[in-house]
Amino acid sequence: MSLSIIILAAGKGTRMKSKLPKVLHKICGYEMIYYSIREAKKLTNDIEVVLYHEADLIKEAVSKYFDDIEFVMQDLENYPGTGGAVMNCKPKNEKVLILNADMPLVEAEELKGFEEIDADIVMSVIELDNPSGYGRVVIKDGEVKKIVEEKDATEEEKKIKTVNAGVYLIKKELLEKFLPKLNNDNKQKEYYLTDIIELAKKEGYKIAPLFVKEEHFKGVNSKYDLANAEILMQNRIKKRLMLNGVIMRLPDTIYIEEGVEFEGECIIENGVSIYKGSKIVNSHIKTNTVIEDSEIVNSSVGPLARIRPGSKIVDTHIGNFVEVKKSTLKGVKAGHLSYLGDSEIDEGTNIGAGTITCNYDGIRKYKTIIGKNVFVGSDTQIVAPVKIEDDVLIAAGTTVNRDVPKGSLAISRLGMKTVSGFFYKFFSKKEGD
Ligand code: UD1
Ligand code: CA
Repeated sequence: MSLSIIILAAGKGTRMKSKLPKVLHKICGYEMIYYSIREAKKLTNDIEVVLYHEADLIKEAVSKYFDDIEFVMQDLENYPGTGGAVMNCKPKNEKVLILNADMPLVEAEELKGFEEIDADIVMSVIELDNPSGYGRVVIKDGEVKKIVEEKDATEEEKKIKTVNAGVYLIKKELLEKFLPKLNNDNKQKEYYLTDIIELAKKEGYKIAPLFVKEEHFKGVNSKYDLANAEILMQNRIKKRLMLNGVIMRLPDTIYIEEGVEFEGECIIENGVSIYKGSKIVNSHIKTNTVIEDSEIVNSSVGPLARIRPGSKIVDTHIGNFVEVKKSTLKGVKAGHLSYLGDSEIDEGTNIGAGTITCNYDGIRKYKTIIGKNVFVGSDTQIVAPVKIEDDVLIAAGTTVNRDVPKGSLAISRLGMKTVSGFFYKFFSKKEGD
């Protein structure tokens, strides 16, 4: 492989107005930097990520997903700026692709295009109606002459709508030659990587602009940009799923995180959110349901249900206002208003409205096990740990605080009494008034 990749992630991200470093803000369930590294790994094994601000936090986040990434510390005190960021890198290969970690929408497939162009430097450019915030690309006679940062641009240069998207393919020898020649003689007193373009141009090197799509090369600098980047990525995720056969009602209202898997015939109604780690197989997820890190197979869930992490729902019907957490339900009906946590519930069992597994005693969590063909009456509290065996009938309103043997009835209820005429006495009324 002749390619090395450097990912810039040392900047403070001041415009995000957040304590969290910019590249750790999430899009569709993953930190922005995750996407840059994932795509880079499709192209090479030689990847260096440049860090400074909150370096330890970023390393920790990256190591959740990747274990073979090189981190390079920028000398940001003495050499601030994107040029300074590259100074401590030691790419192994002849060609170096430089990416910004704040560009989560870039895909490896598009980056391959940079290598197909015969030039000493290939730089990504976008045409924008509103170029504000970006470095402007001064093109003369069809060739890139230089890049001017907005803060350093003249009024005339600010009108240029061709901007630097921030991705470059540079020959390693050019980096080695020109990095030491950068200075910080500009408004921000930073060492700009982009100044290499002008230096190289003056020495006759060939610099080619590569026009790229805004929706893929959009940088995230503010929380507004973050939200817009997430919309673009959502559209990409949902389009791919629909083309693969998932039915979505009003897809603009649906939120599906990166990596959620679908199989068979699935219908997702409006307002549904499905978080990463989930897998949906031949199921119907109804309006405004939330599914987190769970597996749903041959089931219908919702409307307005919440399936929390670690659940497996198979051949089951879950209705409105049912919350399930870390539970396995197989062939179960839980139609209304229940909380089923840390439980295992088996085939043919019906969970009545208002059933609550009391899984937490204030210190620890306990399991509830319910067997086959159990009829759990409405308003039942099941105080875990407890095991209800097969073929059991639990009367409405029962507090189950002991194991229930196979085939039995469980009932705990104060006897009901009626007091005749009480109503009329209490309200000082006469019957028929
Ligand atoms: C940069 C470009 C600009 C381009 C824009 C595209 C320069 C001088 N300007 O500007 O022409 O239009 O990207 O998005 O390169 N970083 C470091 N160390 C630093 C400073 C930044 O690693 O000292 C990293 C940041 O973490 C970020 C990336 O470099 O991932 C870009 O930095 P940012 O400050 O966003 O650059 P822009 O001002 O947007
Ligand atoms: Ca930027």
